[in-house]
Amino acid sequence: MHKLWRITGLLVILLLAACGQEKAVVSDNNYHIVTDMKQTMLWVLDPATDVIWDSAGSIITVEGEQDLTPTTVEQWQHVVNSAAIVAETGNLLAMPGRARGDDWLEYSKGLTEAGTLALEAAQNQDGAALFEAGGQIYLVCKACHNQYLPK
Ligand code: HEC
Repeated sequence: MHKLWRITGLLVILLLAACGQEKAVVSDNNYHIVTDMKQTMLWVLDPATDVIWDSAGSIITVEGEQDLTPTTVEQWQHVVNSAAIVAETGNLLAMPGRARGDDWLEYSKGLTEAGTLALEAAQNQDGAALFEAGGQIYLVCKACHNQYLPK
């Protein structure tokens, strides 16, 4: 009887250890990477960024200067949606399985910050602030690419 208790105790300890271990593994598995880095750039980040860049400042056309700033509620909402994607993509890049070191994490954070500025600008329908945020986003893309883009 004595021995049985000792074995039961051992089993409980082993089970607890196994549970503890499994818990750690499960928390890693909360992430399921779907898009590789290139796809994340081409399918998630780039289209959203383009919406912001195409909605800020002005361009010179044959007809003259054309202001790109949104003029309707729907256009502004489209920028809000896209800026939210840019801001959250900073978090996607910082995820386990995507992050590649301290500098990378800094750039990811920078993307979230710049995207958040664009988001706020779009929510406030502030064209000048959106233009500035667009510039800041560009600097972050550039900085990370300078360091991490395969040559
Ligand atoms: C934290 C780092 C990082 C940030 C920030 C970043 N990128 Fe990238 N980007 C990469 C890496 C790494 C690749 C190369 C992916 C590959 O080919 O495996 C890449 C590739 C790309 C590509 C594909 C290039 C090609 O033709 O192969 C595009 C487009 C792109 N990024 C757009 C952007 C834009 C736009 C931004 C800013 C809004 C941005 N990226 C911000 C790391 C980053």
